[in-house]
Amino acid sequence: MAPRVLVTRRIPDAGLKLVLDATDADLWEDELPPPRDELLRRVAGVEGLLSLLTDRVDDELLDAAGGQLKVISNFAVGFDNIDVPACTRRGIPVGNTPGVLTETTADLAFALLMAVARRLTEGYDHVRQDRWKTWGPMLLLGRDIHGATLGIVGFGRIGREMAKRASGFGMRVLYHDVHRASPDDEAALNAESVEMDRLLAESDFVSLHTNLTPETEHLLDADAFGRMKRGAIVINTSRGPVIDPDALERALASGQIGGAGLDVTDPEPMRADHPLLHHPNCLVVPHIASASVATRDRMAEMAAGNLLSGLRGERLPTPVNPEVYDQPNPA
Ligand code: DGY
Repeated sequence: MAPRVLVTRRIPDAGLKLVLDATDADLWEDELPPPRDELLRRVAGVEGLLSLLTDRVDDELLDAAGGQLKVISNFAVGFDNIDVPACTRRGIPVGNTPGVLTETTADLAFALLMAVARRLTEGYDHVRQDRWKTWGPMLLLGRDIHGATLGIVGFGRIGREMAKRASGFGMRVLYHDVHRASPDDEAALNAESVEMDRLLAESDFVSLHTNLTPETEHLLDADAFGRMKRGAIVINTSRGPVIDPDALERALASGQIGGAGLDVTDPEPMRADHPLLHHPNCLVVPHIASASVATRDRMAEMAAGNLLSGLRGERLPTPVNPEVYDQPNPA
């Protein structure tokens, strides 16, 4: 009999078809995530869960699922929606989708950087609102990207791709990460490792590429904004809570921060009346950094691969908790 699984949203056919062909799948078809009570009801008795970053996977959900749950496959590289230690304690491997969205996410981060620096959305509004009367010597003056200093916080796969793009634009690149890159990588990426204080003090642009952890929550708060160069621009494609949104709003209002490009926000989704959106130099897009057709196809294939491997009792191709396999009674 095909194993029962729950898929909490329609994902691209490249992966969905693999899941539907091999399992007895309950597919949540709505555009919005399943409400919590619906999720808890539907997960009962399944052997596999294909979750999204909008689904909270915690002890309550694992209890509701039951002891037969063999695998959780998250359709994302980030997994802060999942209580991974709780899954590990129960011997449940958790999969994610690393690697395939690296360049696509860095592309969007750099696009945000360029758009905010050169005030693209303000220019577009200017034209659309019929305010374009003539060429103006002082019209919509922005910030140069070439020759500027980019501070990259979190120098993993995506942070490094950001460095490559910056180097192509003639930027100076600083980075901060708890794990320092090898001298060869630093040389190849033309990037200098620095303490956070120095990165904040010297960067014209600060781009966030960290995981969301208790240590990185509100990493950019009022104090951090105060230590940045006046007028610096902040880019966030990591997770919304890495920035304190109230502090950012105050820093934009005072001019201490010159602009922000946010793919991720806190709260998410952000409502249209949020104070940050009153600032024309704050560009917000709805968490679309990995949203290219090809990348979402690859993420779907990977998520399906993790799910189906777990159902077969095989090691997941990309587990986030490989330690689950070292336990006395691994899944
Ligand atoms: C992720 O994968 O974690 C992104 O935020 C969405 O693709």
